[in-house]
Amino acid sequence: MPDLPPNLLRPALEVVQPYQPGRPIDEVKQELGLDSVVKLASNEGPWPPFPAAVQAIRDCAEDQRLYPDPGAWALRDALSERLSLPTDQIMVGAGIDGLITSICRATLDPGDALALGWPSFVQWRLATLTQGGEIQTAELARNGSYDLDALLAAITPATKLAVVVSPNNPTGGAVAATDLEGFLDRLPGHVMPLLDEAYFEYLPPGGHDGAELLRDGRRLAVFRTFSKAYGLAGLRVGYVLGPAKLLAGLAKVRNAFDVTGPAQVAALASVRSAPEHLSRRMDEIATERSMLASGLSALGLQPLPSAANFVLVPMGTAERANAVNDALLRLGVIVRPAGPFGAPDALRITVGLAQQNARLLAALASALN
Ligand SMILES: Cc1ncc(COP(=O)(O)O)c(C=O)c1O
Repeated sequence: MPDLPPNLLRPALEVVQPYQPGRPIDEVKQELGLDSVVKLASNEGPWPPFPAAVQAIRDCAEDQRLYPDPGAWALRDALSERLSLPTDQIMVGAGIDGLITSICRATLDPGDALALGWPSFVQWRLATLTQGGEIQTAELARNGSYDLDALLAAITPATKLAVVVSPNNPTGGAVAATDLEGFLDRLPGHVMPLLDEAYFEYLPPGGHDGAELLRDGRRLAVFRTFSKAYGLAGLRVGYVLGPAKLLAGLAKVRNAFDVTGPAQVAALASVRSAPEHLSRRMDEIATERSMLASGLSALGLQPLPSAANFVLVPMGTAERANAVNDALLRLGVIVRPAGPFGAPDALRITVGLAQQNARLLAALASALN
């Protein structure tokens, strides 16, 4: 292979590790010669998309020679109606991941900082480092939710963005609505607050609602996704709600056609589906999560309290976490070592349906022996 030109890759990339995704089912089957594998690793919902979303994907199959609508107008109109926010305060992107890249590209120059709780969602970190930006981390509260006082304390004059991930990935803890408002009240004026609500739909009643904060006129950007509760992770579609001027900046750096046509129609059909469908699913996860937590406790483990569709399970040491992860893989169960998210001594387990959770618990019982 001929050498690359010298200094081709930007120096900022030297400290960036590529995102480590959960292991794909087919890869694990092939590598370990397994017939059946359960994946509880990437916090996807355990259900298929809503029937109307599946139908919408089928119906648009023949339109795919055309580029998608770069403005995602139909979807934004539907979100605007559902959330009572104007369309210029809504932008659709290729999942929250795509929007994280866009906001970091639009705001961070080398030396600018993003403040973040840690352990937390690693994509915020990677997108900041890619820009040559600095990460300022704050420890979490003991229950695994963001410690908003610690986050405020991490802020310096270099900070441009302060991210609150709630419920937080990988710990599952959520901040209280009143604490979030207090944080916004006290945030210095040179910092833009960003609320990552990827697991918003799973929050129990009385939880925070970034859209409501925006309707109240708060300065804030809120990130949500169709990947989790709506079962559309494979299509890559999410949205950000925020000040029109900020979204106009993001529009300058995003790829115009990054949200595909099937993603747009499936998300639209999901928004239009009856809200009871969604709340039934959320109730099911809440029930399964508490059964899973009891099962884990019965095995002598202490999962953190979670307001989302996953639990973090401390294993004592990174070596034990890796050994148990490997043993689970051999038994056909994929979970997620939480090292890349800042918790190397823990495993993150996505809450599945009853049968999947039962298989995980049985495999874990044997992996722990
Ligand atoms: C906290 C958090 N934010 C954002 C994302 C990315 O979501 P999307 O699939 O919309 O890119 C995830 C996915 O795991 C997440 O856990």
